[in-house]
Amino acid sequence: MPPALLELSGISKSFGGVQALRAVDFVLKPGEIHGLVGENGAGKSTLMKIIAGVHADYDGVMRVDGREVHFRSSRDALAAGIGMVHQELSVAPELTVAENVFLGMQPVNRLGIVDWRKMARQATEQLKNLGLNIDPAARLGDFPIGVQQLVELSRVLFSGARIIILDEPTSALSPPEIERLFGVLLRLKQSGRSLIFISHFLEDILKISDEITIFRNGRKVATTAVSAAIDKAWIIERMIGAGREELEESYLGEIKLVGKPTAPVVLEAKGLTYGSAYRDITFAARGGEVLGVYGFMGCGQLELARTLFGKLKPDRGALAIGGAPVRLANTSAARKAGVAYVAESRRSMLFGEEPVYKNVSIAVLDRLSRFLLKPDRERAIAAEQVKALDIRPPSVELRLGGLSGGNQQKVALAKWLTHPPRLLLLAEPTRGMDVGAKEDVVKIVRALRDQGIAIIVFSTEPETVLSLADRVLVMRKGAIAREFADEAISKDRLLAAA
Ligand SMILES: Nc1ncnc2c1ncn2[C@@H]1O[C@H](COP(=O)(O)OP(=O)(O)O)[C@@H](O)[C@H]1O
Ligand SMILES: [Mg+2]
Repeated sequence: MPPALLELSGISKSFGGVQALRAVDFVLKPGEIHGLVGENGAGKSTLMKIIAGVHADYDGVMRVDGREVHFRSSRDALAAGIGMVHQELSVAPELTVAENVFLGMQPVNRLGIVDWRKMARQATEQLKNLGLNIDPAARLGDFPIGVQQLVELSRVLFSGARIIILDEPTSALSPPEIERLFGVLLRLKQSGRSLIFISHFLEDILKISDEITIFRNGRKVATTAVSAAIDKAWIIERMIGAGREELEESYLGEIKLVGKPTAPVVLEAKGLTYGSAYRDITFAARGGEVLGVYGFMGCGQLELARTLFGKLKPDRGALAIGGAPVRLANTSAARKAGVAYVAESRRSMLFGEEPVYKNVSIAVLDRLSRFLLKPDRERAIAAEQVKALDIRPPSVELRLGGLSGGNQQKVALAKWLTHPPRLLLLAEPTRGMDVGAKEDVVKIVRALRDQGIAIIVFSTEPETVLSLADRVLVMRKGAIAREFADEAISKDRLLAAA
């Protein structure tokens, strides 16, 4: 038998204390599209970065065409014919479209001088294959993210690499753009290239792949040829595991949602549409209810959150708060209407250099003038909160930036307890926290809800939604795909709907 095109055996990799990969074996055949799936943090990107020469420090053996290799850099991998499009967009926004298409490998003439004409012509042609008719001399940063993602894809797809790795390449693409990309991938496959394709969209994976490999918790749990017997449910079962131990870890157990259909409607959204990010979003948020909005990265939920906070202006649609139509033209209009927002990156909302008590009283200062609030009173309000929320260490004088992420999040939420908004928007409220801090945040959110505030939690993590929400909307590629209310939900049902 001829050697495999690419073969990895016993690959292990750790980052400090985190074991990202445990003894993983993986084989890529010539001319195949190999789909890779697994939950966030399962180890997919880490394995791909080893193949692409980004991580040089790992245990195990890698072979290309049967010969052992150990890449020290992505340049090494490229020289061996391996190209990768990373999960994080890595274009150069200041450079032109054509320069980005050829980044690092501009065509040169006999004198070694960059051949700009040739570059522009080839870039135009390659981008046409992906359905893009744009000026190769325009600055790339001026185009929407979807276009930038396609330009980055074209760089690797047409680089001549014979092994092409695509790490979640469709997060910013619209359905027709994805269709066109798939056409290109199939043509590359027919010309003998091998592709590894990572995506959360299991239907896409099943449609395009010859084989799939499933990762869970740093281990490879299955590799199989795609056939009629392999469906979404089969994959999800393996992704989240059915072992007793994982069962607890992953809330595979069911959670019964109890809606509050008679609670007063605080926010009403009708037909909201914003660019290619989301469309026709219609829903209501009720006082005393936590509404979860779940979806994969890039499904449009972050843009929706930003719209409700007045950061993005929708192209179409209407919003009403407490029954009255509102136009949230900017964030101060949103705040006046009673909307509060705790962003995903807490750093942007809090003042790390200021003491804890100042951060707690910021909401107060929005309403009272700074001169009316005496420092002693400020401290006293904050001290109450620090105690009630079990913020550690329990001192209002400490610099906020010195607290752990979980405790900073408690501070970010604390101020809304004393001065409740009508609508509270939370983006990824428990990301990266330890179990204890997560539980505290859940308690605070419930306390806020029980004061009658309407709360919307936006998250890409099923656990977050399952632990907080009374009702759930699932977003998928810019639209609301499913509502769960008054029924049992579980992680696998959420994933299946997304
Ligand atoms: N550069 C890094 N430094 C520290 N930890 C990392 C790094 N890259 C990945 N990890 C950790 O390794 C694990 C696997 O991550 P990753 O390979 O990105 O997963 P996936 O792509 O499947 O979502 C996670 O726990 C992640 O936090
Ligand atoms: Mg990844």
